[in-house]
Amino acid sequence: MENVIIFDTTLRDGEQAAGTTLNKEEKLEIARQLEKLGVDVIEAGFPVSSLGDFEAVSLISRELKEPVVCGLARANQKDIDRTWEAVKSAVAPRIHVFISASQIQMAHQLHKSPEEVLDLAGRMVAHAAGYLSDVEFSPMDASRAEPEFIYRLVERAIACGATTVNIPDTVGYAMPEEFGDLIDSLMKNVSNIHRAVISVHCHNDLGLAVANSLSAIKAGARQVECTINGIGERAGNASLEEIVMAIATRQDRYNITTGIKTEHIYRTSRMVSEITGFPVQPNKAIVGINAFRHQSGIHQDGVIKMPKTYEIIDPQKVGVPSSSLVMGKLSGRHAFKERLAELGYTLSEEDFTRAFLAFKELADKKKEVTDRDIESLLAEEKRAFEGAYHLERLQVTCGAGIPTAAVVLACPDGQTRGDAALGTGPVDAVYKAINRIVTVPNKLAEFTVKSVTEGIDAIGEVLIRIESEGVSYTGRGADTDIITASAKAYMNALNRLLAERNG
Ligand code: KIV
Ligand code: ZN
Repeated sequence: MENVIIFDTTLRDGEQAAGTTLNKEEKLEIARQLEKLGVDVIEAGFPVSSLGDFEAVSLISRELKEPVVCGLARANQKDIDRTWEAVKSAVAPRIHVFISASQIQMAHQLHKSPEEVLDLAGRMVAHAAGYLSDVEFSPMDASRAEPEFIYRLVERAIACGATTVNIPDTVGYAMPEEFGDLIDSLMKNVSNIHRAVISVHCHNDLGLAVANSLSAIKAGARQVECTINGIGERAGNASLEEIVMAIATRQDRYNITTGIKTEHIYRTSRMVSEITGFPVQPNKAIVGINAFRHQSGIHQDGVIKMPKTYEIIDPQKVGVPSSSLVMGKLSGRHAFKERLAELGYTLSEEDFTRAFLAFKELADKKKEVTDRDIESLLAEEKRAFEGAYHLERLQVTCGAGIPTAAVVLACPDGQTRGDAALGTGPVDAVYKAINRIVTVPNKLAEFTVKSVTEGIDAIGEVLIRIESEGVSYTGRGADTDIITASAKAYMNALNRLLAERNG
C-alpha cells in the first residue's frame, strides 16, 4: 500500500493563530509528542520572524531524531540563510520556500509581475538547494491563481531543485472536487512532476479543509499539511486527526497508509490544547469530549449490545482512555500511576510524587477525580514550577464590602514578598495586589473561566490573555477555587512575559 506523508504545521501555521505565542520549551515539548505520534515532517517555525522562533527551530532540530524538521522561508536570501542556520543540525532538515502566486496577491501585496515571481521562485529554490537536498516549494494562494501559471511555477521550482511541491488553498476558497481536479491537472501539465512529491495545505474558512485534503489525496497528492486540533490561521488548517482517521477508517476508499500511531492522538490533542490555551470544541470529530459519548437511549442501547452499531471508530484506537476506573481519595500510588500511564503520561519519580500529592489534595475536596481533572491537575503542576514568580498564599474578602486581596509571592531573588490591594471585584483586587509586586505594565485583554467537569466541586480553569508593548501572552490556571485559579493564570501569563522579555 502507498503511504501519504504527514506534515505537521502545528508549530508554525498553528502557532500563527491569534493570541498564541509559545516559548521554545513549549514548542519542544509539543515537537517531542509529535515525534512520538509518528508524524513524518514537523514544520517547527518561521525562523526569520523572531529570535524566539529561530531558537525554537534550532532547539527542535538538535533534539529530534526521527522526523524531518522543516523551517519556513519567504523567497529571499535572508530568510533562506536564516532558516538554514536554524535547521542545519537536524537529522533530516528541510527548507520550505513560499511566494505569492495569485494575481491578487502578486499585484497588491508583492508588487511583482508573474515573470518576476517565476524568476525569483526559481532562483530562491536553487539557493535553498545549495544548502540541502530536501527543499519544499509553495506557490501561495494557488487555488485562486491561474492554473497555467501554477504549472509553470511548479515546473520551474522542480527544475531548480524542489523535491516537494505544495499546493496551498491559503484562504480556504476551494471546493473538494475542484481542488482534486487541480492536483490531477498538475500531474498532466507539469512535465517534471514525477521528480517531486505533491503536497497540499488547506485552510478551513468554508469548513472544507479536511474534505479538500482528502480529495487531493484521491487525486494523487502524497503529502498533507495539517495541524493538531485543526488550529491555525483564521478558521484554522486541516485537522491531522481527522485526515488520519478518515484514511484509516475508510481504507476501502483510500487504500493508503500513514505512519501515525493513532493511539497517541488523544494525548497529543490534549497537550496542544493545554499548551496553546486553545480549547477543543466538545463536538470536535475524533478528539472532542462528546466524540464518543452517546446521549440518545436508542444509541446507548445499541452500543451496549455491540459498539459498532453506533461507533465507527474504537475510542481506544485514538487513545481515548476508557473510564472504567474512578479515582478518589482511597486510590493509592499504584492506581494513580496506572491511570497516568493509560492517559499517556510518563513522569519522572520526582514529578510523580508531586503529582500524587496534588491528586490526594484534590481527592480530599472532590468525591470523584476524573481523567479531565487529572489532566488539569498535571498541567497546573507543570505551570507552578515554571517561571520566576510563584503564588505562595492568597486571601480575598468580597461580597457586600470592598473586595480586598492579600497575596504572597516567591520572587526570583529567593525572597518572598506580600502586598494587598482593593479592587472592583475579587479578581481585580488580586491582580492589583500582584501588580504591586511584579511591576510590569500590562492590560488584561481576555478572561474566561470554565469548569473542567460537571458538579459543584469541579475544578475551574481560567484562561487569560494580557497585552504588553503590543505583544499578547496567554496564561492558564486551575483550581477548585476560581479566584485562586485566576491568580495562577495571571502569574503564568506574567512569567511567560518575563521569560520572553528577559530572553
Ligand atoms: O496558507 C499558506 O499558504 C501557507 C503557506 C506558507 C504554505 O501557510
Ligand atoms: Zn497556511
